[in-house]
Amino acid sequence: MSEKKLNGQTALVTGANSGIGEGVAISLGEAGANVVVNYVVNPDAADAVVEKIKSLSSNAVAIQADVSKEDQVISMFQQVVQKFGTVDILVNNAGLQRDAKFHEMTLAQWQLVIDINLTGQFLCAREAIREFLRRGIVPERSIACGKIICMSSVHELIPWGGHANYATSKGGIKMLMQSLAQEYGGQKIRVNGICPGAIKTPINQSAWDTPEAYNSLMTLIPYDRIGVPDDIGKLAVFLASDDSDYITGASMFIDGGMTVFKGFSTGG
Ligand code: BGC
Repeated sequence: MSEKKLNGQTALVTGANSGIGEGVAISLGEAGANVVVNYVVNPDAADAVVEKIKSLSSNAVAIQADVSKEDQVISMFQQVVQKFGTVDILVNNAGLQRDAKFHEMTLAQWQLVIDINLTGQFLCAREAIREFLRRGIVPERSIACGKIICMSSVHELIPWGGHANYATSKGGIKMLMQSLAQEYGGQKIRVNGICPGAIKTPINQSAWDTPEAYNSLMTLIPYDRIGVPDDIGKLAVFLASDDSDYITGASMFIDGGMTVFKGFSTGG
């Protein structure tokens, strides 16, 4: 990237030590942002992401926090403000799946997914907005007072049998994102969602790691390839930068066409 669109801004990416979060953290660093690489387990992987970002000449630090725990989220934001002075961009990315047939789903499987995927986004967005409002707009850095990107999924739209907890969390993220965009637009805080389809990461390895699984996945994707974290990273940079200043409250689908229902090209 020749132009450093996010120079001087600080971005916090949750769940940034693997998968989509890692790709987004690296892209934001490449665009000039200081990046906070949040993680829960596997500090070595978080350190590797930090080193990669530093090799791109941006500042980065790893901070451990479970996004579903209020005290840990508050302390993480305090550490970010101490280190970088403020936070300009939050990417609410941390998420997981605990799949089960609905009639066999345990309360623990339901609760964990809701806690991390949805409550985690609530806690981080609340701390980010508190900091945005405290700091106010800094025109040299951005037209907006702050930007929040909520990592959702095509499954905020496409129902997903066998994954009711996950799809429910993503439907909730959509409404959280839009409600915040509505509530804080007047204060120049932009809140948008990214809705990835199948992206090659550990979360969905069983959907792409054999030729049979991959071919079956392609029956759902008109554009005929799986996505990669860098696809998402490029969109995150756009949504975090002033290039997208008139976009708020939007769900941006990035899915090779998964949401245009490939089956209908021959059926229906
Ligand atoms: C899920 C993946 C899945 C994709 C498309 C994502 O939100 O995490 O496991 O492959 O949606 O169905």
